[in-house]
Amino acid sequence: MELLKGKKGLITGVLNDKSIAWAVARTAVQEGAQIVMTNTAVANRLGQTANLAAQLGCPLFEADATSLEDLDRLVDSTMEHFGGKFDFVLHSIGTSPNIRKHRAYSDLDYSLMGKTLDISALSLHKMLQTLYRKDALNEWGSVVALTYIAADRAVCGYNDMADAKALLQSITRNFGVIYGSERHVRINTVSQSPTATTAGSGIEGMEKMLEWSNRVSPLGNASAQDCADYVCTLFSDYTRMVTMQNLYHDGGFSTTALSPASME
Ligand SMILES: NC(=O)c1ccc[n+]([C@@H]2O[C@H](COP(=O)([O-])OP(=O)(O)OC[C@H]3O[C@@H](n4cnc5c(N)ncnc54)[C@H](O)[C@@H]3O)[C@@H](O)[C@H]2O)c1
Repeated sequence: MELLKGKKGLITGVLNDKSIAWAVARTAVQEGAQIVMTNTAVANRLGQTANLAAQLGCPLFEADATSLEDLDRLVDSTMEHFGGKFDFVLHSIGTSPNIRKHRAYSDLDYSLMGKTLDISALSLHKMLQTLYRKDALNEWGSVVALTYIAADRAVCGYNDMADAKALLQSITRNFGVIYGSERHVRINTVSQSPTATTAGSGIEGMEKMLEWSNRVSPLGNASAQDCADYVCTLFSDYTRMVTMQNLYHDGGFSTTALSPASME
């Protein structure tokens, strides 16, 4: 449909072909966008990131999203590549060292929790602040970050990622006021269904969560590709007046208490 014809964007978080960011990158290119991909040095070396970037013929830049120096360099390189400002950014970054080390929510290591919050939430603020300072985004540009319903309602097993997602959503609103009123740039979060990815597989009981959520949601779980299609509409000019929202993309899960399939 060439929804993104003429647009240029930065996509974070492509680790492998299961990554939600990979579906977004592929779809954005299909819709006519030019993109740049970025991930950490480790992901670029050990994941499929370099191969996938080559498949799309787009540059791959290295940046740890918790490092202001890296973000500074990333935004400069992206602007240099595009020859100026760009139009959209996908924040698709999350991990919890506490979950990886099997620390329960009632027995958290606080220095690891600091890392969870830094990687999964503050990285959005750092990214926005860098983009804003360098005036890197075009007017009516769009930033989308991915979140999960555990930010709003308790979901057992999601651990300190729930706190990180609540912070991510708050940053979206608070930076959204500034970026919207001063530069007409919009910032939203998309609250996606549980999805079988590398980050998702770290959550305790993920298989059961996928099945339960699929039963409760009247439309079933939204896939990574469904998410990509939705995110690309948010990058497009058809959603220019949407900002500072947490947009549920979950087959109706968030507003369902009981569905026929969940009764069984
Ligand atoms: N999978 C799900 O069930 C689900 C549901 C809702 C929201 N989300 C969110 O979607 C986003 C993408 O996750 P995914 O499920 O596609 O998994 P994924 O593992 O493919 O993606 C996570 C990405 O974060 C990157 N990352 C980690 N630390 C980083 C750092 N310091 N700097 C830069 N990048 C870093 C990883 O390299 C990886 O590419 C995350 O924010 C996740 O919380 C996932």
